Amino acid sequence: MQISITRTTTPKQKPDEAHLGFGKYFTDHMFVMDYTEGRGWHDPRVVPYAPFELDPATMCLHYAQETFEGMKAYRHEDGSLALFRPTENIKRLNNSDRRLCIPQLDEELVLEAIKTLVRVDADWVPHSYETSLYIRPFVFATDIGVGVHPSKTYKFVIILSPVGAYYPEGVNPVKIYVEDEYSRASVGGTGFTKAAANYAISLAAQEKAMKLGYTQVLWLDSAEKKYVEEVGTMNVAFKLDGKVVTPALGGSILPGITRKSVIELLRYWGVTVEERKLGIAELMEAAENGKLEEAFGTGTAAVISPIGELYYEGKTVTISDFKTGPLTQKIYDELTAIQWGRAKDPFGWVVKI
Ligand code: COI
Repeated sequence: MQISITRTTTPKQKPDEAHLGFGKYFTDHMFVMDYTEGRGWHDPRVVPYAPFELDPATMCLHYAQETFEGMKAYRHEDGSLALFRPTENIKRLNNSDRRLCIPQLDEELVLEAIKTLVRVDADWVPHSYETSLYIRPFVFATDIGVGVHPSKTYKFVIILSPVGAYYPEGVNPVKIYVEDEYSRASVGGTGFTKAAANYAISLAAQEKAMKLGYTQVLWLDSAEKKYVEEVGTMNVAFKLDGKVVTPALGGSILPGITRKSVIELLRYWGVTVEERKLGIAELMEAAENGKLEEAFGTGTAAVISPIGELYYEGKTVTISDFKTGPLTQKIYDELTAIQWGRAKDPFGWVVKI
Protein backbone atom coordinates (compact mmCIF):
# COMPACT_ATOMS: atom_id res chain seq x y z
CA MET A 1 0.00 0.00 0.00
CA GLN A 2 1.25 3.45 -0.94
CA ILE A 3 1.32 6.05 1.86
CA SER A 4 0.02 9.39 0.54
CA ILE A 5 1.46 12.63 1.94
CA THR A 6 -0.42 15.92 2.28
CA ARG A 7 1.75 18.64 3.79
CA THR A 8 0.47 21.42 6.01
CA THR A 9 0.31 24.93 4.59
CA THR A 10 0.40 26.43 8.11
CA PRO A 11 3.40 24.98 9.98
CA LYS A 12 3.43 25.66 13.73
CA GLN A 13 6.08 27.53 15.65
CA LYS A 14 8.44 25.00 17.26
CA PRO A 15 8.74 25.05 21.05
CA ASP A 16 11.93 26.08 22.88
CA GLU A 17 14.15 23.00 22.98
CA ALA A 18 15.29 23.79 26.52
CA HIS A 19 11.76 23.52 27.97
CA LEU A 20 10.07 20.66 26.15
CA GLY A 21 8.90 18.59 29.12
CA PHE A 22 7.09 15.37 28.20
CA GLY A 23 4.21 15.03 25.73
CA LYS A 24 3.10 18.66 25.67
CA TYR A 25 3.77 19.67 22.06
CA PHE A 26 2.74 17.92 18.85
CA THR A 27 4.24 18.22 15.39
CA ASP A 28 2.73 19.45 12.11
CA HIS A 29 1.61 16.08 10.75
CA MET A 30 0.06 12.77 11.76
CA PHE A 31 -0.39 9.38 10.14
CA VAL A 32 -3.91 7.99 9.78
CA MET A 33 -5.23 4.70 8.35
CA ASP A 34 -8.77 3.29 8.51
CA TYR A 35 -10.13 -0.22 8.96
CA THR A 36 -13.46 -1.39 7.66
CA GLU A 37 -14.64 -4.97 8.08
CA GLY A 38 -14.52 -6.77 4.74
CA ARG A 39 -12.06 -4.26 3.31
CA GLY A 40 -9.26 -4.38 5.87
CA TRP A 41 -6.88 -1.51 6.61
CA HIS A 42 -6.96 1.13 3.90
CA ASP A 43 -6.00 4.69 2.95
CA PRO A 44 -2.65 5.03 4.78
CA ARG A 45 -1.86 8.73 4.77
CA VAL A 46 0.26 11.46 6.31
CA VAL A 47 -1.91 14.53 6.79
CA PRO A 48 -1.69 17.82 8.71
CA TYR A 49 -2.13 17.33 12.48
CA ALA A 50 -5.79 18.11 13.25
CA PRO A 51 -8.59 17.15 15.67
CA PHE A 52 -10.99 14.29 14.89
CA GLU A 53 -14.71 14.83 14.89
CA LEU A 54 -16.29 11.96 16.88
CA ASP A 55 -19.93 11.00 17.24
CA PRO A 56 -20.76 10.95 20.99
CA ALA A 57 -21.61 7.24 20.62
CA THR A 58 -18.19 6.34 19.17
CA MET A 59 -17.42 2.98 20.73
CA CYS A 60 -13.90 3.64 22.08
CA LEU A 61 -15.32 6.44 24.25
CA HIS A 62 -17.58 3.97 26.03
CA TYR A 63 -15.78 0.64 26.26
CA ALA A 64 -12.10 1.57 25.90
CA GLN A 65 -11.35 -0.59 22.87
CA GLU A 66 -8.06 1.26 22.41
CA THR A 67 -4.38 0.33 22.47
CA PHE A 68 -1.21 2.34 22.04
CA GLU A 69 2.58 2.22 21.87
CA GLY A 70 5.39 4.52 22.93
CA MET A 71 8.75 4.79 21.20
CA LYS A 72 11.27 7.48 20.24
CA ALA A 73 13.24 8.87 17.29
CA TYR A 74 16.72 10.13 18.19
CA ARG A 75 18.95 12.64 16.41
CA HIS A 76 22.52 11.38 16.24
CA GLU A 77 25.53 13.68 16.26
CA ASP A 78 25.93 13.40 12.46
CA GLY A 79 22.36 14.72 12.08
CA SER A 80 20.91 11.34 11.04
CA LEU A 81 17.73 10.04 12.68
CA ALA A 82 17.28 6.64 14.30
CA LEU A 83 14.70 4.44 16.04
CA PHE A 84 15.34 1.96 18.86
CA ARG A 85 14.06 -1.62 18.34
CA PRO A 86 10.92 -0.40 16.54
CA THR A 87 9.82 -3.87 15.42
CA GLU A 88 9.49 -4.85 19.10
CA ASN A 89 6.93 -2.08 19.64
CA ILE A 90 5.05 -2.96 16.47
CA LYS A 91 4.86 -6.65 17.43
CA ARG A 92 3.66 -5.69 20.91
CA LEU A 93 0.96 -3.45 19.41
CA ASN A 94 -0.38 -6.43 17.47
CA ASN A 95 -0.26 -8.56 20.66
CA SER A 96 -2.22 -5.87 22.51
CA ASP A 97 -4.70 -5.64 19.62
CA ARG A 98 -5.26 -9.41 19.58
CA ARG A 99 -6.29 -9.28 23.24
CA LEU A 100 -8.63 -6.31 22.65
CA CYS A 101 -10.27 -7.89 19.52
CA ILE A 102 -8.74 -5.19 17.29
CA PRO A 103 -7.68 -6.35 13.79
CA GLN A 104 -3.97 -7.01 13.18
CA LEU A 105 -1.80 -4.43 11.44
CA ASP A 106 0.74 -5.15 8.69
CA GLU A 107 3.98 -4.74 10.69
CA GLU A 108 6.09 -3.66 7.70
CA LEU A 109 3.53 -1.02 6.78
CA VAL A 110 3.52 0.32 10.36
CA LEU A 111 7.33 0.64 10.32
CA GLU A 112 7.14 2.40 6.95
CA ALA A 113 4.42 4.69 8.34
CA ILE A 114 6.58 5.63 11.34
CA LYS A 115 9.62 6.32 9.15
CA THR A 116 7.59 8.31 6.61
CA LEU A 117 5.95 10.47 9.29
CA VAL A 118 9.25 11.13 11.10
CA ARG A 119 10.88 12.07 7.77
CA VAL A 120 8.07 14.55 7.03
CA ASP A 121 8.45 16.11 10.50
CA ALA A 122 12.25 15.62 10.68
CA ASP A 123 12.79 19.26 11.69
CA TRP A 124 10.85 18.53 14.88
CA VAL A 125 13.40 16.00 16.18
CA PRO A 126 15.23 18.05 18.83
CA HIS A 127 19.01 18.39 18.74
CA SER A 128 20.31 18.26 22.32
CA TYR A 129 21.53 15.04 23.93
CA GLU A 130 18.77 13.17 25.78
CA THR A 131 15.98 14.98 23.93
CA SER A 132 14.00 13.02 21.36
CA LEU A 133 10.83 12.79 19.31
CA TYR A 134 8.33 10.63 21.20
CA ILE A 135 6.24 8.52 18.82
CA ARG A 136 2.73 7.59 19.91
CA PRO A 137 0.96 5.05 17.63
CA PHE A 138 -2.57 4.13 18.74
CA VAL A 139 -5.65 2.28 17.51
CA PHE A 140 -9.24 2.99 18.49
CA ALA A 141 -12.71 1.62 17.76
CA THR A 142 -14.85 3.96 15.67
CA ASP A 143 -18.20 2.17 15.27
CA ILE A 144 -21.13 4.24 16.46
CA GLY A 145 -23.34 2.56 19.03
CA VAL A 146 -23.30 1.48 22.65
CA GLY A 147 -23.86 -2.27 22.21
CA VAL A 148 -20.99 -4.22 23.77
CA HIS A 149 -19.17 -6.07 20.97
CA PRO A 150 -15.98 -5.56 18.96
CA SER A 151 -16.16 -2.62 16.59
CA LYS A 152 -16.16 -3.30 12.83
CA THR A 153 -14.28 -0.08 12.06
CA TYR A 154 -11.07 1.42 13.53
CA LYS A 155 -8.56 4.19 13.10
CA PHE A 156 -4.81 3.68 13.43
CA VAL A 157 -3.05 6.95 14.13
CA ILE A 158 0.53 8.05 14.83
CA ILE A 159 1.32 11.39 16.44
CA LEU A 160 4.74 12.82 17.35
CA SER A 161 5.85 14.91 20.31
CA PRO A 162 9.30 16.47 20.82
CA VAL A 163 10.31 15.65 24.40
CA GLY A 164 13.04 16.85 26.72
CA ALA A 165 15.42 14.88 28.88
CA TYR A 166 13.07 13.10 31.26
CA TYR A 167 15.21 14.29 34.18
CA PRO A 168 16.47 17.79 33.35
CA GLU A 169 18.61 17.78 36.55
CA GLY A 170 19.97 14.27 35.94
CA VAL A 171 18.83 10.83 37.02
CA ASN A 172 17.64 11.02 40.64
CA PRO A 173 16.13 8.43 43.00
CA VAL A 174 12.44 8.57 43.86
CA LYS A 175 10.32 7.46 46.84
CA ILE A 176 7.94 4.58 46.15
CA TYR A 177 4.80 3.48 48.00
CA VAL A 178 4.17 -0.28 47.90
CA GLU A 179 0.47 -0.45 47.00
CA ASP A 180 -1.40 -3.14 48.94
CA GLU A 181 -4.98 -2.13 48.18
CA TYR A 182 -5.40 -1.36 44.46
CA SER A 183 -4.30 -3.68 41.64
CA ARG A 184 -3.07 -2.77 38.18
CA ALA A 185 -3.64 -6.07 36.42
CA SER A 186 -4.49 -9.72 36.95
CA VAL A 187 -3.52 -12.94 35.17
CA GLY A 188 -6.02 -13.46 32.34
CA GLY A 189 -6.59 -9.71 32.09
CA THR A 190 -4.79 -7.10 29.98
CA GLY A 191 -1.66 -6.41 32.06
CA PHE A 192 0.63 -7.64 29.26
CA THR A 193 -0.88 -5.18 26.77
CA LYS A 194 -0.68 -1.45 26.30
CA ALA A 195 -4.43 -1.11 26.57
CA ALA A 196 -5.37 2.49 27.36
CA ALA A 197 -7.66 1.21 30.12
CA ASN A 198 -4.66 -0.17 32.08
CA TYR A 199 -3.46 3.38 32.59
CA ALA A 200 -6.88 4.67 33.69
CA ILE A 201 -6.99 1.88 36.28
CA SER A 202 -3.61 2.93 37.70
CA LEU A 203 -4.50 6.56 38.39
CA ALA A 204 -6.22 6.22 41.77
CA ALA A 205 -3.20 4.50 43.31
CA GLN A 206 -0.85 7.06 41.79
CA GLU A 207 -2.95 9.89 43.26
CA LYS A 208 -2.99 8.19 46.65
CA ALA A 209 0.80 7.72 46.63
CA MET A 210 1.39 11.34 45.62
CA LYS A 211 -0.88 12.62 48.42
CA LEU A 212 1.21 10.59 50.86
CA GLY A 213 4.43 12.15 49.53
CA TYR A 214 5.59 9.38 47.18
CA THR A 215 6.38 9.71 43.48
CA GLN A 216 4.88 6.41 42.38
CA VAL A 217 3.61 3.01 43.50
CA LEU A 218 5.13 -0.44 43.44
CA TRP A 219 2.43 -2.80 42.17
CA LEU A 220 1.92 -6.22 43.73
CA ASP A 221 0.12 -9.19 42.16
CA SER A 222 -3.66 -8.90 42.38
CA ALA A 223 -4.38 -12.42 43.71
CA GLU A 224 -2.21 -12.54 46.83
CA LYS A 225 -0.64 -9.09 47.09
CA LYS A 226 2.64 -10.89 47.77
CA TYR A 227 4.70 -10.57 44.61
CA VAL A 228 6.26 -7.50 43.01
CA GLU A 229 5.04 -6.72 39.47
CA GLU A 230 5.78 -3.20 38.18
CA VAL A 231 6.57 0.31 39.38
CA GLY A 232 4.23 3.09 38.23
CA THR A 233 4.04 2.72 34.43
CA MET A 234 7.43 1.00 34.27
CA ASN A 235 8.96 -2.44 34.71
CA VAL A 236 11.10 -2.86 37.79
CA ALA A 237 14.43 -4.51 38.64
CA PHE A 238 16.50 -4.93 41.81
CA LYS A 239 20.16 -5.63 42.48
CA LEU A 240 19.96 -8.24 45.21
CA ASP A 241 23.17 -9.66 46.64
CA GLY A 242 25.14 -9.10 43.43
CA LYS A 243 22.49 -10.40 41.02
CA VAL A 244 19.79 -8.50 39.19
CA VAL A 245 16.26 -9.81 39.81
CA THR A 246 13.22 -8.72 37.82
CA PRO A 247 9.68 -10.13 38.02
CA ALA A 248 9.06 -12.83 35.39
CA LEU A 249 6.43 -11.97 32.77
CA GLY A 250 3.32 -13.92 33.62
CA GLY A 251 0.46 -12.23 31.76
CA SER A 252 -0.06 -9.38 34.20
CA ILE A 253 3.24 -7.61 33.50
CA LEU A 254 4.02 -5.48 30.42
CA PRO A 255 6.84 -7.02 28.33
CA GLY A 256 8.83 -3.79 28.27
CA ILE A 257 11.34 -3.20 25.49
CA THR A 258 13.61 -1.25 27.85
CA ARG A 259 13.22 -4.16 30.32
CA LYS A 260 14.30 -6.64 27.63
CA SER A 261 17.21 -4.40 26.55
CA VAL A 262 18.44 -4.01 30.15
CA ILE A 263 18.37 -7.79 30.64
CA GLU A 264 20.29 -8.35 27.39
CA LEU A 265 22.81 -5.62 28.22
CA LEU A 266 23.43 -6.97 31.74
CA ARG A 267 23.91 -10.54 30.46
CA TYR A 268 26.31 -9.17 27.80
CA TRP A 269 28.27 -7.60 30.66
CA GLY A 270 28.29 -10.93 32.50
CA VAL A 271 25.88 -9.88 35.25
CA THR A 272 23.52 -12.65 36.43
CA VAL A 273 19.89 -11.74 35.78
CA GLU A 274 17.03 -13.73 37.28
CA GLU A 275 13.51 -13.40 35.88
CA ARG A 276 11.37 -14.90 38.60
CA LYS A 277 8.67 -14.36 41.18
CA LEU A 278 9.92 -11.84 43.71
CA GLY A 279 8.10 -11.62 47.03
CA ILE A 280 7.68 -8.24 48.72
CA ALA A 281 8.63 -10.00 51.98
CA GLU A 282 11.90 -11.23 50.42
CA LEU A 283 12.61 -7.73 49.13
CA MET A 284 11.96 -5.99 52.47
CA GLU A 285 14.05 -8.59 54.29
CA ALA A 286 16.92 -8.16 51.83
CA ALA A 287 16.73 -4.40 52.38
CA GLU A 288 16.94 -4.84 56.14
CA ASN A 289 19.92 -7.20 55.77
CA GLY A 290 21.76 -4.81 53.47
CA LYS A 291 21.36 -7.12 50.47
CA LEU A 292 19.07 -4.87 48.45
CA GLU A 293 21.83 -2.93 46.75
CA GLU A 294 19.99 -1.05 43.99
CA ALA A 295 16.49 -0.70 42.55
CA PHE A 296 15.21 0.94 39.36
CA GLY A 297 12.30 1.22 36.96
CA THR A 298 12.73 0.74 33.21
CA GLY A 299 10.59 2.35 30.49
CA THR A 300 10.75 4.18 27.18
CA ALA A 301 9.90 7.60 28.55
CA ALA A 302 12.42 7.80 31.44
CA VAL A 303 14.73 4.92 30.29
CA ILE A 304 15.93 4.18 33.87
CA SER A 305 14.43 5.57 37.07
CA PRO A 306 16.30 4.78 40.31
CA ILE A 307 14.32 3.95 43.45
CA GLY A 308 15.75 5.41 46.66
CA GLU A 309 13.08 4.45 49.19
CA LEU A 310 10.27 1.91 49.61
CA TYR A 311 7.38 2.21 52.03
CA TYR A 312 5.44 -0.98 52.79
CA GLU A 313 2.87 -1.50 55.53
CA GLY A 314 4.37 0.89 58.06
CA LYS A 315 8.05 0.23 57.25
CA THR A 316 10.39 2.42 55.25
CA VAL A 317 13.63 1.16 53.73
CA THR A 318 16.27 3.29 52.03
CA ILE A 319 18.11 1.85 49.04
CA SER A 320 21.67 2.73 48.03
CA ASP A 321 21.69 5.64 50.55
CA PHE A 322 19.05 7.33 48.41
CA LYS A 323 21.64 7.73 45.64
CA THR A 324 21.65 6.37 42.10
CA GLY A 325 23.45 3.03 42.38
CA PRO A 326 26.58 2.51 40.25
CA LEU A 327 25.05 -0.31 38.17
CA THR A 328 21.82 1.70 37.67
CA GLN A 329 23.88 4.67 36.44
CA LYS A 330 26.00 2.45 34.18
CA ILE A 331 22.89 0.94 32.55
CA TYR A 332 21.36 4.40 32.04
CA ASP A 333 24.59 5.77 30.54
CA GLU A 334 25.12 2.83 28.18
CA LEU A 335 21.52 2.52 26.97
CA THR A 336 21.16 6.24 26.30
CA ALA A 337 24.57 6.31 24.58
CA ILE A 338 23.42 3.51 22.24
CA GLN A 339 20.07 5.21 21.59
CA TRP A 340 21.65 8.60 20.83
CA GLY A 341 24.36 6.99 18.68
CA ARG A 342 27.28 7.85 20.98
CA ALA A 343 28.23 4.25 21.76
CA LYS A 344 28.68 1.19 19.56
CA ASP A 345 25.49 -0.86 19.20
CA PRO A 346 26.66 -4.49 19.31
CA PHE A 347 23.05 -5.75 19.38
CA GLY A 348 21.64 -4.24 16.18
CA TRP A 349 19.01 -2.32 18.15
CA VAL A 350 19.39 1.00 16.35
CA VAL A 351 17.43 1.37 13.08
CA LYS A 352 18.34 4.36 10.94
CA ILE A 353 15.48 6.26 9.35
C1 COI B 1 6.99 4.50 29.49
O1 COI B 1 7.40 4.77 28.38
O2 COI B 1 7.72 4.23 30.42
C2 COI B 1 5.55 4.50 29.74
O3 COI B 1 4.92 3.50 29.69
C3 COI B 1 4.96 5.79 30.07
C4 COI B 1 4.09 6.32 28.99
C5 COI B 1 2.71 5.70 29.05
C6 COI B 1 4.03 7.81 29.07
